[in-house]
Amino acid sequence: MEGQVGVGVIGVGILGRRHTRVYAEQPNVRIVGLADHNPSKIEDLAQRYGVRLFSDYREMLDMLGPNGTGELKAVSVSTPDFAHTDPVRAALEAGVDVFVEKPLAMSVDEAESLVSLSREKSLVLMVNYSQRWLPENIRIKQLINNGVIGDVAFVESHKWDSIWVPQHMISWADKTTPIHFMSSHDIDLIIDWIGDKVKSVSAFKHQGVLNHLKGLDSAVDGYAAILQFKRGTLASLHSSWIEPQSFPVIADSYIEIHGSNGSIFLAGSTRELKIYDRNGSEKVTFTGPSTATEVNGKIEGAFTKSLQAFLRAVESRELDAPTAAANTLHVVQVQEAIVRSAVRGETLIL
Ligand SMILES: NC(=O)c1ccc[n+]([C@@H]2O[C@H](COP(=O)([O-])OP(=O)(O)OC[C@H]3O[C@@H](n4cnc5c(N)ncnc54)[C@H](O)[C@@H]3O)[C@@H](O)[C@H]2O)c1
Repeated sequence: MEGQVGVGVIGVGILGRRHTRVYAEQPNVRIVGLADHNPSKIEDLAQRYGVRLFSDYREMLDMLGPNGTGELKAVSVSTPDFAHTDPVRAALEAGVDVFVEKPLAMSVDEAESLVSLSREKSLVLMVNYSQRWLPENIRIKQLINNGVIGDVAFVESHKWDSIWVPQHMISWADKTTPIHFMSSHDIDLIIDWIGDKVKSVSAFKHQGVLNHLKGLDSAVDGYAAILQFKRGTLASLHSSWIEPQSFPVIADSYIEIHGSNGSIFLAGSTRELKIYDRNGSEKVTFTGPSTATEVNGKIEGAFTKSLQAFLRAVESRELDAPTAAANTLHVVQVQEAIVRSAVRGETLIL
């Protein structure tokens, strides 16, 4: 329809369903195709939105992309972490803008090749770092930018998932790592908040809990990593997915930031932010939509805002948005360094 962007989704599992629904709720969007290895799982979506299903995303790109009917202008890629590169490359080669789930790719070589291709083709390639739009994270960025806590000396990031996630929620836990599946957002946020690059990485991994479970022979339980930034900030990351079934939520997180003039503490699931500076202290609990909250029958929150930013970039041809792949390549560099440092038992200089 006139004035509407034709979009598709490649990889329609848990997150792909969310992409599909949020696109469907945008007035300036028309979903034209959905592609998944296993299209029978998403027949309900095809009926609900009256769109074509494809078992091969290449067929969808050929038929509906600029070399076919031309209806398809942009796609979300929400395949598993280890399977982003091929569909992203195929979409860019077909002339279609791409919104890819985090992590952009599991290796720096792959990520760089995708960024080069997007530049060569003048196409939007944006990563869904939705947590940048979470109000509590926006507040933290403002506090740091306004100098409220002074120079950031230490950051502590904790991510904990229930063991149910690698065991039952996703079927590919042994083909990713907690650093990619869980810590992508925090690494991106920390780099963005302090506006600096990592100089060295020292990381360790733990194995032995998940390995006893069926199909998870090579899965990693978690990582502990220290990132030293160029201007001296030390960030410590803990990322593990072995919490027992009694853990009250599927996923939780905690972040601390300690600066020369104050500190900030954010509890992920309760959304309680505590700020201590030279003038006093403040406690704020955020209560509005979080990442993806249903409000009056529509999904609102950070995810929706991130997807809307992608749609604006598509319409305005903004190739250099803050969460464009080209501007977030350092996250992939840090992730690769953490995994390598843990395997080699060495501190790596980036
Ligand atoms: N932004 C966030 O906060 C957030 C949260 C959770 C997950 N994610 C990311 O979203 C992505 C998807 O995660 P999920 O939990 O939805 O996984 P999932 O396993 O539920 O879904 C993946 C889907 O991709 C399909 N698929 C696999 N390979 C394919 C291919 N080559 N072509 C077409 N379809 C293919 C599978 O059949 C499946 O339906 C992951 O990268 C994950 O890290 C992001």
